[in-house]
Amino acid sequence: MSPTALLKLDDKEFTLPVIVGTESEKAIDVRGLRDKTGFITFDDGYGNTGSCLSNITFIDGDQGILRYRGYPIEQLAENSNFVETAYLVINGELPTLAQRKQFSAMLTENAPIHSAMEHFFEGFPRDAHPMAILSSMLNSLGCYHPHLASNDHARDLENYYQTAALIISKVRTLAACTYRASRGLPFIYPRRDLPYCENFLHMMFSTQYEPYMAIPEVSAALNLFLLLHADHEQNCSTSTVRMVASSGANLFSSVSAGVSALWGPLHGGANMAVIEMLKSIHAEGDDGTKFIEAAKAGRADKRLMGFGHRVYKNYDPRAKIIKKSFETALAKLKITDDPLLDIAMRLEQAALKDDYFVSRRLYPNVDFYSGLIMRALGIPENMFTVMFAIGRMPGWIANWKETAVNPKGRIYRPRQVYTGAVQRNFVPMNERK
Ligand code: CMC
Repeated sequence: MSPTALLKLDDKEFTLPVIVGTESEKAIDVRGLRDKTGFITFDDGYGNTGSCLSNITFIDGDQGILRYRGYPIEQLAENSNFVETAYLVINGELPTLAQRKQFSAMLTENAPIHSAMEHFFEGFPRDAHPMAILSSMLNSLGCYHPHLASNDHARDLENYYQTAALIISKVRTLAACTYRASRGLPFIYPRRDLPYCENFLHMMFSTQYEPYMAIPEVSAALNLFLLLHADHEQNCSTSTVRMVASSGANLFSSVSAGVSALWGPLHGGANMAVIEMLKSIHAEGDDGTKFIEAAKAGRADKRLMGFGHRVYKNYDPRAKIIKKSFETALAKLKITDDPLLDIAMRLEQAALKDDYFVSRRLYPNVDFYSGLIMRALGIPENMFTVMFAIGRMPGWIANWKETAVNPKGRIYRPRQVYTGAVQRNFVPMNERK
């Protein structure tokens, strides 16, 4: 017999179905609740709400487990790279050699952007935030490929694979152009002979006179960073992508909304916020001790950025992997005397021992190290979250598809508990106090 949940409201009982996932996750199916009882559920922040059924990513926050399409993140980090993992997340299976070659060829073909798009960058103020530019550019990209952005899911799905490859490739070019435009530097065009990460570093840092030669440890660290961010189930930005997709919107607009959602400091913006926090601690001559005390006092402006996670309550498996690669890259780059690094390590050690953090199960998350790694690689701070967006693109794309192909898909439309004024009569201007 399939399990059910019994709900008692006053003297009436209601039976609700229970859904069990492939990893034995259980959910009470409340879809018929309002019709049956007149009640809705209330879950501010959605911490207890399953918004969809998904085949893409599995997370067990208590045990620190993260798997893409069933494959443990540790195995992918060890054996795969970003492009192959992107293929896996987007298509559901690891590619064969022929599929991998074809996907890489599509990335190469799609790397340049339409020359008219280059002029868009001139219109943004020099100090515009790269996340604002990236979000605008991704939405605009759809205008240059109208046959892929019809807002008709059936038609857009026919071209899913092509659109996915196009976005995965062009987001990297757009990101590099954003950086170059912000520095007043001429654009550097993609090369056909370079792999994904090396090509990105080339478009960021080569000059007209000298090609940028990526140190293997640096491109490996970047590759790993992107792979570790490829998907993370129903986080704020991915849920945003699904929300936008549920209205029938095309893939370009949906991922553009994902970029906006990612920007905030509690989500993808945390990697930049970590460095800002470390800089301000350093500027105040603190070694981290005073800051920790202020964070413990619950001061919202003194939250320890890069610590805590809604889902991971023991450790963030991505943080464990990225920390190792960070140490390798630092050793290779011979970075030993960065005062921010010393403060970061002191904060990490102190917070791991302090009862405030231990009792609330606040551990360093992936962003604590990823901000430091980006800094060591020479990526400017305001580009950190853009890097996260490049990495998260496969997950957004796959989640868009899951929403678009669902034959029973309904527009996302949560309800609310209204707490405003009860009905009252309009007051003419001359009678208002
Ligand atoms: N520093 C100090 N105290 C904290 C922190 C922190 N980073 N995070 C949570 N707390 C405290 C919080 O004040 C609360 O204490 P109390 O129970 O006394 O009121 C308790 O821990 C529970 O916090 P919460 O705000 O209810 O937790 P949440 O699940 O809503 O928030 C979070 C999760 C990630 C937004 C939060 O931990 C945070 O703001 N961390 C810093 C920002 C950050 O690093 N974000 C990146 C997350 S990983 C990347 C991603 O997946 O987006």
